[in-house]
Amino acid sequence: MEYQAKELFAKHGVPVTIGTVVENPEDAYAAAEAHGGRVVVKAQVKAGGRGKAGGVKLAEDPNDAVAKAEQILGMDIKGHTVRRVLISPTADIAEEYYFSYLVDRAARQYLCIASTAGGVEIEVTAHEDPDAVAKVAIDPLVGVDDAKAREIVAATGFPAEVADEAVDIIQRVWTVFVEEDASLVEVNPLVRLGDGHLEALDGKITLDDNADFRHPDHAAFEDKAAVDPLEAKAKAKGLNYVKLDGEVGIIGNGAGLVMSTLDVVAYAGEAHGGVEPANFLDIGGGASAEMMADGLGIIAGDPQVKSLFVNVFGGITACDAVANGIVDALRLLGDEADKPLVVRLDGNNVEEGRRILDEANHPLVTLVDTMDGAAEKAAELAARAQDQGGS
Ligand SMILES: Nc1ncnc2c1ncn2[C@@H]1O[C@H](COP(=O)(O)OP(=O)(O)OP(=O)(O)O)[C@@H](O)[C@H]1O
Ligand SMILES: [Mg+2]
Repeated sequence: MEYQAKELFAKHGVPVTIGTVVENPEDAYAAAEAHGGRVVVKAQVKAGGRGKAGGVKLAEDPNDAVAKAEQILGMDIKGHTVRRVLISPTADIAEEYYFSYLVDRAARQYLCIASTAGGVEIEVTAHEDPDAVAKVAIDPLVGVDDAKAREIVAATGFPAEVADEAVDIIQRVWTVFVEEDASLVEVNPLVRLGDGHLEALDGKITLDDNADFRHPDHAAFEDKAAVDPLEAKAKAKGLNYVKLDGEVGIIGNGAGLVMSTLDVVAYAGEAHGGVEPANFLDIGGGASAEMMADGLGIIAGDPQVKSLFVNVFGGITACDAVANGIVDALRLLGDEADKPLVVRLDGNNVEEGRRILDEANHPLVTLVDTMDGAAEKAAELAARAQDQGGS
């Protein structure tokens, strides 16, 4: 969120005025008073285009700030409910610029995108007037030193009066990008104030959560209220789970296999009234019985799920261990497991794995030999359960 991005900006010396975050309209009065009466009330959500959606409003005085906070709190912006607003002092804006760093995967480099035509949507500027948007490649081994910062300033066409200050800020924003392990840092707008100085008036940062372990302070940025409860549960169990909209619960081992499983299920689902995958869940290479139980438990707990598809390729953990895991998991789950389960096993010790499942003869389990066949069966079972459920 903007105020969190600004906290990180402040930590690295990027000039900002954070203001005060409030969660209910009454608190906006004192906050506005503290910031000079005339303030900007800004929705704090992890989405862009807040201004366009009516989430950024100027308030003339503290009473007006309360009224504006009332309008903005609770608003839905691109699927995000506004639970906080930032009360910011009004800035005396002379010019608005756009500035960002991001990862350019195709070029295996970082990229700076900047423009003196900021404030508005950069995507629109880039489309209608591409020459107004500078793109400067950054060698990851060199980073943004003074020379690179001057190159960016020249390429962007920052006015001469602000050039030196821009060179300094550009390097500070780079420090935010590198030291906080971000994959995106965006300042839109970076403004030139009436007094000639520059300030980051808005900020957006995407943090790379693979680096969470070296940033314990980043945990505070998570918007707990907005996290899907099943995703939170999965995360606590160390599972890679992403909730999707469909009806077929998916468990697989290895991200690639799970991604292909989503595809075959979506494809098979077309012939069954358009049923789709309900989630992505990768239990990893060492798919232990406990991981299987945790995974099955999470998916079984999703009310949208009508059938489950376990698609495992036995490698490091062979099929017999996985089969035992499924049997144990179903026993652990007991009555919680009440949805049909299609299993496809292949790879190491597949014969033994299938034998174990055949022998267990669990009423919910259907063993299918091929991935396409299993996807077809899971889609069919989901469609049937949906028809019976009347939904
Ligand atoms: N503190 C402020 N004082 C004066 N004007 C402001 C202030 N904050 C924002 N504005 C004006 O409102 C515009 C939009 O604000 P901001 O960039 O924060 O939101 P946004 O761009 O609509 O949101 P998003 O970045 O989510 O797309 C700015 O370009 C600026 O003109
Ligand atoms: Mg903005």
